[in-house]
Amino acid sequence: MAPRVRPFRWPADKDAVLSFQYEVYERNFPGFRVTRAFLHEYETQLRYAVRSPYEALFVLDDDGRVCGFLWIEIRSTMVDELVGYVKNVYVAPDLRGQGYGKKLLAIADDWFRARGCPKATLDVSICNPEAVALYKSAGYEVARHRMEKHYE
Ligand SMILES: CC(C)(COP(=O)(O)OP(=O)(O)OC[C@H]1O[C@@H](n2cnc3c(N)ncnc32)[C@H](O)[C@@H]1OP(=O)(O)O)[C@@H](O)C(=O)NCCC(=O)NCCS
Repeated sequence: MAPRVRPFRWPADKDAVLSFQYEVYERNFPGFRVTRAFLHEYETQLRYAVRSPYEALFVLDDDGRVCGFLWIEIRSTMVDELVGYVKNVYVAPDLRGQGYGKKLLAIADDWFRARGCPKATLDVSICNPEAVALYKSAGYEVARHRMEKHYE
């Protein structure tokens, strides 16, 4: 059977989701190293998110193997009273390129729309072209540039 998306279960899915964060964070923040302290803090945030009405967590389940993750939330900003925000999306390497990332983002769209969000947003590093390609393909457009200047 094909992998299916289902709600994240605490604590059963926690360890798999934590294991994904090495790639997510080290890929998106070159030079950053995921530590035990970082994972501990991440675990605390997950535990709170499970109970928050403003957040939702889903996993991709392949016959009992947790092989993907989506963490989304509703935020309000200076200009948007309600905006969907994609905090984390991950697909296991062996399942990439088969549309699962897009499937997870479609679930985010449904969840945001059902709660009255007129738009969704996210942050991605330019050093992660696979993720940029996924987001573009799912309809996201660049709205802001964060620029850097290096002194050697
Ligand atoms: C980013 C990630 C979630 C993509 O998941 P995926 O399941 O492979 O994505 P999909 O198969 O749904 O692909 C969606 C689109 O992105 C494009 N894409 C995905 N991987 C690509 C790659 N390596 N090169 C070029 N395009 C790519 C696809 O062509 C597809 O576009 P299309 O439908 O218009 O053809 C996955 O690579 C991943 O988990 N990376 C590590 C974690 C991470 O960096 N997450 C993002 C944090 S910001």
